[in-house]
Amino acid sequence: MSVSSTVNSAVRKIPAWPLYILGLIPAVWGFYLGATNQLGTDPVKTFEIFLGLWAIRFLLLTLAVTPLRDLAGVNLIKYRRALGLLVFWYVLFHFLVWLILDQQLMMAQAIDDITKRPFIMLGMAALILLIPLALTSFNFAIRKLRKNWNKLHKLIYAISILAAIHLFMATKVLDAEQYIYLALFVVLLGYRIAREPILQAKRAA
Ligand code: HEM
Repeated sequence: MSVSSTVNSAVRKIPAWPLYILGLIPAVWGFYLGATNQLGTDPVKTFEIFLGLWAIRFLLLTLAVTPLRDLAGVNLIKYRRALGLLVFWYVLFHFLVWLILDQQLMMAQAIDDITKRPFIMLGMAALILLIPLALTSFNFAIRKLRKNWNKLHKLIYAISILAAIHLFMATKVLDAEQYIYLALFVVLLGYRIAREPILQAKRAA
């Protein structure tokens, strides 16, 4: 049995719902570390970055589902909705930590921060674009919107570009981890451009 068919038969047996719970464990863990004073000298900033990085990881996993199916025959489509919703939750938590703990709910100051720091504006745009995706991630919306659902969910590419630029601009000194994430964004988004010719070549072969 090939690796892909072993994975696919395991996937058939493992439901998607535990992912919603497992995916939230890092957030709970980060919160626990913060609440018990284990996040260093600047716990708010550390927690904010921690949540942002988990949003990036889930976003990259969401983007990887299609190429994995196309190129390796590994079908993880069943988990894509949970992964996408986890992106939304982590970006929302990241935003709330910034708004409540960093800006202390001072709205005028928060708006000032958004308008003065372009990387925050880009992050905000990504969060706003994520809202319609999260709201239409349920079966009822998928049935109602039909083809328009696919069109709407292409927003994930714009969100990914905004998130990648936000990550690049927010990071003062890029370390290996951030370089890897940025490279993965380039590869996974680049694949969307090359996808049609690749699939055609595969079909022809
Ligand atoms: C798709 C949306 C977003 C993603 C994936 C994301 C991800 C990230 C990541 C990974 C970092 C850490 C960069 C590092 O390694 O230093 C970061 C930093 C930051 N993000 Fe976001 N973010 C998003 C949206 C937002 C929003 C909506 C806001 C607030 C309006 C925001 C505010 C910030 C701030 C202030 C920092 C800098 C923290 C600091 O170093 O002091 N982000 N973001």
